[in-house]
Amino acid sequence: MCGIVGYIGKQKALPILINGLKRLEYRGYDSAGIAMLENGDLQIVKQPGKICELEESVAAANFTGNVGIGHTRWATHGVPDRKNAHPHTDCRKRLAIIHNGIIENYSTLKNELILKGHTFVSETDTEILVHLIEEFYDNNLEQAVRYALAEIQGTYGILVVSKDEPEMIVAARNGSPLLIGVGEEEYFAASDASAIIRHTRDVAYLDDGEMAILNHKTFVTKTIHDKPVTKYVERVSFDLEQIEKGGYPHFMLKEIFNQPETIRDCMRGRLMLENGDVRLGGLEVHLDQMLKAKKIVLTACGTSWHSALIGEYILEELLRLPVEVDYASEFRYRNPVLDPETIVIVISQSGETADTLAAVREVKKMRSPVFGICNVVGSTIARETLAGVYLHVGPEIGVASTKAFTAQVTVLMQIALLLARRKWMSAEEGKKIIRELQAIPEKVEKILQLDQKIQKLAELYGNSHNFLYLGRGYNFPVALEGALKMKEISYIHAEGYPAAEMKHGPIALIDENMPVVFIAIKDHSYDKIISNIEEVKARNGRVIAVATEGDEKIKERADHVIYVPQTLDFLSPLLTIVPLQLLAYHAAIVRGCNVDQPRNLAKSVTVE
Ligand code: F6R
Repeated sequence: MCGIVGYIGKQKALPILINGLKRLEYRGYDSAGIAMLENGDLQIVKQPGKICELEESVAAANFTGNVGIGHTRWATHGVPDRKNAHPHTDCRKRLAIIHNGIIENYSTLKNELILKGHTFVSETDTEILVHLIEEFYDNNLEQAVRYALAEIQGTYGILVVSKDEPEMIVAARNGSPLLIGVGEEEYFAASDASAIIRHTRDVAYLDDGEMAILNHKTFVTKTIHDKPVTKYVERVSFDLEQIEKGGYPHFMLKEIFNQPETIRDCMRGRLMLENGDVRLGGLEVHLDQMLKAKKIVLTACGTSWHSALIGEYILEELLRLPVEVDYASEFRYRNPVLDPETIVIVISQSGETADTLAAVREVKKMRSPVFGICNVVGSTIARETLAGVYLHVGPEIGVASTKAFTAQVTVLMQIALLLARRKWMSAEEGKKIIRELQAIPEKVEKILQLDQKIQKLAELYGNSHNFLYLGRGYNFPVALEGALKMKEISYIHAEGYPAAEMKHGPIALIDENMPVVFIAIKDHSYDKIISNIEEVKARNGRVIAVATEGDEKIKERADHVIYVPQTLDFLSPLLTIVPLQLLAYHAAIVRGCNVDQPRNLAKSVTVE
């Protein structure tokens, strides 16, 4: 959700803010704005639309100040127009705030503030906070922010500036990520490191309930109750190159094509072929606890939930333990039955998803061990879980998750293998799986060579109104994920089902206009899925089959076949998802959609 960036230092703030906002645009892109402290004045420029439109509006202003804050918005309260865009200001236009999160008690506070004479110009929850700060402001911004925060309920990552204290930015965090970038006599604040990595890789992550006061010489961190806290400055590991398109037209395509490398990165240093074993440093000291588990619960949202479903199949198969998968949004509210012998694994690319984070906190209250599978290093979930495994695939910028999905499945496979080797699996069996895992990147490369063929299919079916995706076993979650990719970036309605469920309802939808994507690889349910294909053909449905190389029989039944190489059944999702990612990508292009910034979506869902 919303991206925020701030700068105080010796350089001109404006280009730093604009560049930072461009990096953050994947977090929200319906409107944007900046506040600059400029020759003793506070200048605000806001613009509906993308950052490039904001950039055009500020171009003429020629701001030279070296303190400023900027925001790119994903609307929660109020339509995306200029008045609702951030920064918001107080009645006297002395203060400016940018905010990521939701203020839950805003309407009560707004009524109280109106009675006190404040005038509101937007429909946002954020605006009440700046008026509340104004209420407490007596030339001490830090204190006014602290007093105001004590009155609000909800989540926030905020930056606040005052024209009366132009040498200062006040930052505070509760539930929405915020970090401080440390340069030489210059400081940055941002909702994620990609906004500032061009200038510094040294960052301090604020925790919930903390604030930071930045000036030209230093930054000070405290709790919002005014207790000093010491923050460690850490080094961000990714490069600028990783957050650029690298010659691809879209981040999503780059991330799909990077998968051979990202899957390799995710396995690097972890697989030990010589003894058929796995080393996952983060889990090492918790192995006994994990091995004693009587039940595993996996919880996540969206694409990460789909990889959890694949994890369920793999972990049950290899560990013979009951595994439950739950949407984090349901899990956190349904009073789940947990005990110390149940381990919970949460999966989140961003490590910031509000529902997944709330699930972590619920589990901790119930005293069950909770482990994380995250991509973003230093993210809140990574820090709040007992231990975990990073994906190590670099920043995922495309709003539609692709490389994180394949890495999540790879990590789940590695966890299953690690535990199975300690429980029952022979070194020989372990070696066989590792050899297959190591062969996956090359097999993905081979599938990527089918890009043009898949593009033609997208041209053929890109104008369809609906798509159905069907798979069985390990490839049922792939059907769900294929359908999610299609709907989120091409806006074609798409549904995924276990293939056998088709007869229980969705079959009613099938006619000559319905493309049905079958994941029909040669596994134990192959014959059954062939029968499902026959059922679709009997009703004139159009069949696109993802099948195993060498399967000539399927050509007689399907209208189109995309071949993927053979692998072990439980590794097959790592291959079968790739053509479905490409199909969704090309369908979106055929339809003229903005692939990296699909409508209404944003990366990292930090609100409930
Ligand atoms: C879909 C997508 C979302 C995310 C979901 C969870 O392409 O990206 O469904 O998977 O919002 O996000 P994380 O994994 O960051 O918790």
